[in-house]
Amino acid sequence: MSTFALLRNTAVVLAVASSVCAPARAAGDVPPTEARALLGWLQAGSYKNWRHESAAHPSAGPHPARVIAYLNPALDASLAAKAAAHPSGASAVKELFDAAGKLSGWAVSVKTEADSRAGQGWFWYEILGTTPASQVVASAKGVPLCYGCHTPGRDFVLIPYPLK
Ligand code: HEC
Repeated sequence: MSTFALLRNTAVVLAVASSVCAPARAAGDVPPTEARALLGWLQAGSYKNWRHESAAHPSAGPHPARVIAYLNPALDASLAAKAAAHPSGASAVKELFDAAGKLSGWAVSVKTEADSRAGQGWFWYEILGTTPASQVVASAKGVPLCYGCHTPGRDFVLIPYPLK
């Protein structure tokens, strides 16, 4: 085989590989906003490769008891750019740990529209436990309990940035 043919074949293989991989990666970066699908997505640890805080710390909010925040690439880039508004698809996941350090639930925010519309343009989810029987505190767009306290943040995001 000529060098040219070899290079061309390699290029085809790479192109096929990236077109197969790209949609899966993109889909994993924005959590589903339907409660049951979202719980499965969280249980699978789908956010684990996002940038995150290096250690659990006590929550400055009502999120029990110690937390680690994860930011998807869209939100991370937007915070790094100090953007006043984050793009649609920006998302954060917070792992909640009990006093013994055991994973005890998640809090999730997903911006679902280009405009935050005073909190209505965000989907909010919190579950106090890790199974389908656990108490779901919120699972909807525009939950007043959530966006009310998040309003002073940078476009509803409160975690200090850069992440510690
Ligand atoms: C009384 C205030 C308060 C309320 C109510 C509240 N939060 Fe938070 N939230 C915080 C604070 C403070 C942080 C920053 C990290 C920390 O210290 O926990 C935070 C962080 C988060 C984060 C990580 C991204 C970010 O904005 O920093 C998510 C996701 C989140 N909260 C989801 C929710 C959801 C879902 C609800 C409603 C069920 C909710 N929060 C209600 C105070 C609040």
